[in-house]
Amino acid sequence: MDKTQGYNEKNKSRYLDELLELLRIPSVSADPAHKDDMLTAASYIKNQLKSAGADRVEVMPTDGHPIVYGERIIDPDLPTVLVYGHYDVQPPDPLELWHSDPFDPVIKPTDKHPQGAIFARGSSDDKGQMFMHIKAFEAMNKTGELPCNVKFMIEGEEEVGSAHLGPFAEAHKDMLRCDVIVVSDTGIIDNQTPVITVGLRGLSYVEVEVTGPNRDLHSGLYGGAVANPINILAEMMAGLFDEDRKITIPGFYDKVLTVSDAERAEMNKAPFSLEAYLEDLDINDVCGEAGYTTLERTTIRPSLDANGIWGGYTGEGAKTVLPSKAYAKISMRLVPEQNSEEIARLFKEHFEVITPAGVKVKVSYLHGGEPYVMPIDSEGYKAGYRAMEQTFGKPPIPMRSGGSIPIIPLFENVLGVKSILMGFGLDSDLIHSPNEHFGLFNFYKGIETIPWFFRYYSELMRK
Ligand code: BES
Ligand code: MN
Ligand code: MN
Repeated sequence: MDKTQGYNEKNKSRYLDELLELLRIPSVSADPAHKDDMLTAASYIKNQLKSAGADRVEVMPTDGHPIVYGERIIDPDLPTVLVYGHYDVQPPDPLELWHSDPFDPVIKPTDKHPQGAIFARGSSDDKGQMFMHIKAFEAMNKTGELPCNVKFMIEGEEEVGSAHLGPFAEAHKDMLRCDVIVVSDTGIIDNQTPVITVGLRGLSYVEVEVTGPNRDLHSGLYGGAVANPINILAEMMAGLFDEDRKITIPGFYDKVLTVSDAERAEMNKAPFSLEAYLEDLDINDVCGEAGYTTLERTTIRPSLDANGIWGGYTGEGAKTVLPSKAYAKISMRLVPEQNSEEIARLFKEHFEVITPAGVKVKVSYLHGGEPYVMPIDSEGYKAGYRAMEQTFGKPPIPMRSGGSIPIIPLFENVLGVKSILMGFGLDSDLIHSPNEHFGLFNFYKGIETIPWFFRYYSELMRK
C-alpha cells in the first residue's frame, strides 16, 4: 500500500488538474442543449480510464445519454468490485447567485475547508467523487497493488432519474457481474467524522395540473363565481398534511417499516446540533411529523414536498386575471417498504378524490426510485468501515441519508448485489445549489481511502 499512497502523493497536482478539466465540461443531463457536452464528458472519462490502465473501455450508447464502461480483470478467481458514479450534473441556475462561473472551477478556502474547496457544478455531486475512484484505481494499477478485479460503470442520467440504466444493467448482466458495488455519491458529517451511508430514501415524483375555466378570465368580472385553480391547488396541497404534519393520503404509511426504539436511540446518538441547524438555515424552528427528531424525519420517515408551484400572472406589477390553470411538481421521499409506483398511484387517487367541483385535475408520474438499506454485517460494509477508520483515524458512523440514488436498489434487484455507499462530501457542499463545492481535503481523502477499501475487501473475501 505504500507504493499506492506514494504514487498518489507524487501525482496530487495532476489529479486535481484533470478533475478541473472534467468540471469545465457542462454536462447537464436535463438540458438537451448540452447533449454534445454529455458526449465530451463521457469521452473524457473514457480516456481517463484508458490511461489509468482499464481494458474494454467503451462509451456505450443508451436511448438517453451514454454510459462509460471499463474494467481490469487481473484474475477471474478474485473478487470483483464494481464502481458506479455519474458524470452528469444538475442545471447550474440560478446563475446570478454563483460567485464564479459554475463551469470554470476556482479554488477558495471556506470555514469548513480551510485547505481550499473547488467551486464548480458537479464538484461534489458527483464528478469530484467519481473521479477519486479513477485516480485510486490508477494508483493501485500503476504500482501493481490492485488486489482484485474492478469494473467501472459511470452513467450520465443520474440527475434525471437513470431511466435507461435499469434496462442497460438487465441487458449487460454478464459484463456487470461483480461481488460488491462501491459508490461515492453521499457524504460524511464533517472532515473529522466519517460516515458510511447505510440507507437511502426512495422517491416518487409527480406533477399535477389543475384546470378551471377554459381560458384566463377577468378577475373582476368572474372573480367570486368561478373556481380559481391556484386557490384550489393551494387548498388541496394544504390538505395533504394534518395537524401533526402527517401525510393524509390514505394508505401512505401502510407499508412503512417501523424502526425499533433501540435503533432509533442508536441513530439519534449521531452528532447533530439543532441550534447549528437552525442557524445555518436561518429559520427559527424546524417543522415536521410530530413524534420524530429532525434526523429521523429526514431518514426513517417519508416526506412530501412541493418542488415548484406555478400558474397565472407572475410578471412585473399587477395583472387582474383569474387563471385557467395551476401546476405543481411534488416529490415524495419514501422509506422501506414503500414502493414508488404504488405511492404515486395512492397520491393520484387521493388527489382526484379531493378535487372540488369546478376544476379538473391531471396527475402525471414523472419518475421514481425505491428506498435502500445496507446491512452492516456484510463484507462490503466491513471493508468500508476499516478503510475509513484507517485513513480518518476514527471509525465511521453508519447513518441513513434522506437523499435518493434510485439505481442502487435497482442494482440489487437486477444484479443481486449490494452497494456500499462510501461518500466524502459534506452537507454544506451546496450540491444542486449555487456555489457547489468540494473540499480538496475530501478529494484527496477519498483517493487515499478507496485503495484501503479494495485491500480490506479482498482480504475479507479470501477468508
Ligand atoms: N448524490 C445525490 C443523492 C445524495 C446526496 C444521497 C447526498 C445522499 C447524500 C444524487 O445525485 C441525487 O441528487 N439524487 C436525486 C434523485 C434523482 C432521481 C434526481 C435526489 O436525491 O434528489
Ligand atoms: Mn449524485
Ligand atoms: Mn444529485
